[in-house]
Amino acid sequence: MTDTTSNKMWGGRFAAGPDAIMEAINASISFDQRMAAQDIAGSRAHAAMLAAQDIISDSDADAIRKGLLTVLSEIEGGTFAYSTALEDIHMNVEARLKEVIGEPAGRLHTGRSRNDQVATDFKLWTRDQFDAAESGLLALIKALLGQAKAGADWVMPGFTHLQTAQPVTWGHHMMAYVEMFGRDLSRMRDARARMNESPLGAAALAGTSFPIDRDMTAQALGFDRPAANSLDAVSDRDFALEFLSAASICAMHLSRFAEELVIWSSAQFRFVTLSDRFSTGSSIMPQKKNPDAAELIRAKIGRIMGANVALMMVMKGLPLAYSKDMQEDKEQVFDAADNLMLALAAMEGMVKDMSANRESLAAAAGSGFSTATDLADWLVRVLGLPFRDAHHITGSLVALAEQNGCDLPDLTLEQMQSAHGDITADVFDVLGVENSVNSRMSYGGTAPAQVRAQVARWKGIIG
Ligand code: ARG
Repeated sequence: MTDTTSNKMWGGRFAAGPDAIMEAINASISFDQRMAAQDIAGSRAHAAMLAAQDIISDSDADAIRKGLLTVLSEIEGGTFAYSTALEDIHMNVEARLKEVIGEPAGRLHTGRSRNDQVATDFKLWTRDQFDAAESGLLALIKALLGQAKAGADWVMPGFTHLQTAQPVTWGHHMMAYVEMFGRDLSRMRDARARMNESPLGAAALAGTSFPIDRDMTAQALGFDRPAANSLDAVSDRDFALEFLSAASICAMHLSRFAEELVIWSSAQFRFVTLSDRFSTGSSIMPQKKNPDAAELIRAKIGRIMGANVALMMVMKGLPLAYSKDMQEDKEQVFDAADNLMLALAAMEGMVKDMSANRESLAAAAGSGFSTATDLADWLVRVLGLPFRDAHHITGSLVALAEQNGCDLPDLTLEQMQSAHGDITADVFDVLGVENSVNSRMSYGGTAPAQVRAQVARWKGIIG
C-alpha cells in the first residue's frame, strides 16, 4: 500500500481514496456507533476463542481484550473520535485498537469478516430490544391490571361501530387490552427465542479455514447455538423484520387504546381524567387540557410500520449472501425501537395515573337503549319466543321509547304490553345496567366475577 489516502483496512489494491460523495454514501458510522458495546463484546469473544484454539497467542489475545476495554471506556466517556473515512463502527474500533496496542490489533480479524461481525453486533443490539419490549409490555400490563381490579364492576357502555351496544365493565375493557399486549409479549418472546443463534464465525460468507470454535463464541455472547449455514448467517435479517413486525402490531394496539383515551378524555365523553403529568395545556386557550401523550402514541405506528415496510423492501430480492443494501437495516430498527419503548413507557404512565369517572361511565352505560338485547333475551327465556320475534318486538319498544324521549326502563308496563301482552313487571329486572352486566357470566364475558377471574389469571401468568 503506497497511497496513504486509500483505506487503511482494505486499500491494498487501491491507488486512490474515495470521492467525498462515495465516502458519504458508504459510511454508516454516524448511526452504527450505537452498536459499539456489542461490537467490542463480539471482538473480545472472538479474540479469546482465537487464543483458545491456538490461532493467535495468549499474549496477543490479552493485549487485544484489554485494549478493547480501553477503547470502550473512551467511547463511553465521550472522548472517542469517530472517523467517517473509517466507514463504520467495526473499522473505527479496530483502527483505534491499533493505535492503543499496536501490532497485535492486526490479528483480531483472523477468521472473521465484517459480514459476520455486523450480523452479530446487530443481533446482539436487537436482542436487547426484544428484552426491553418485554419489560415495557409487562409494566403496561401490570398498570392495566391495576385499573381492571379497581373497576371490575364499574359499568360503562360497550360499543360496536362506536355506537352504544351493550353495557360492559371498565375492568372488562381494560382486560381486553391486557389480552392484546399479552399477545405482543408472547410475539416478542417467540421471536427472541428464534433469533438467538450466533452468526459469528460465518466469516465473509463461506466459513473459514481456521480451526475456530463457534460454540465457544456463541456461548460467550449468550447465544443458544451457532447459526448452521454461513451464507444464511451473514444475509439473514429476519430477526430485525420480526422485531419490526411485532413492534408494528404492538404499536397498532397502542394506537387503538390511545385513540380511546383521546375520545374518553374529551368534554363530550368525560369517561376518564388524564393526570396533569401526562397532559399539556394550550398557549392560547386557558381552559384546555390536551391528551398530547395519547395523540403521539396514536401516531407512533406511522414510523414503526414505516420501518417495517422499509426494511422488508430493502431485503426483497437481495441475492445471497451479504450486500451493502443491508447497511440500511439499522436506522429503521433503531428508530422503531426507540419509539416503541417511549410509547410503551408513556402509555404505562398514563394508565397508572388516569382516573375513570365512574358516574359518567354509569350514566352513559344506561343510555342509548344499551339493555335492548337483555330485553330480547328475556322474551326468549321467559316467554319462549323465537329470538327473531323477540328482536322485532324489542325494536318496536325502542322506537316507542325514542318517540317518548325516554330510555327502555322508563316505559310503563302497559306500554311494554302493547308490544306483547304476556310481558310482566319482572322484565324491569333485566333492564337495569348492573343486572345486565352481572348476567354475562359466560367465560370471557363482562360480568365482574369473570373480570376478577381474568385479573387473577393474568396475575398468575406474569407473577
Ligand atoms: N457497515 C456495514 C453494514 O452495516 C458492515 C459490513 C460491511 N461489509 C462489507 N462487506 N462491506 O452492513
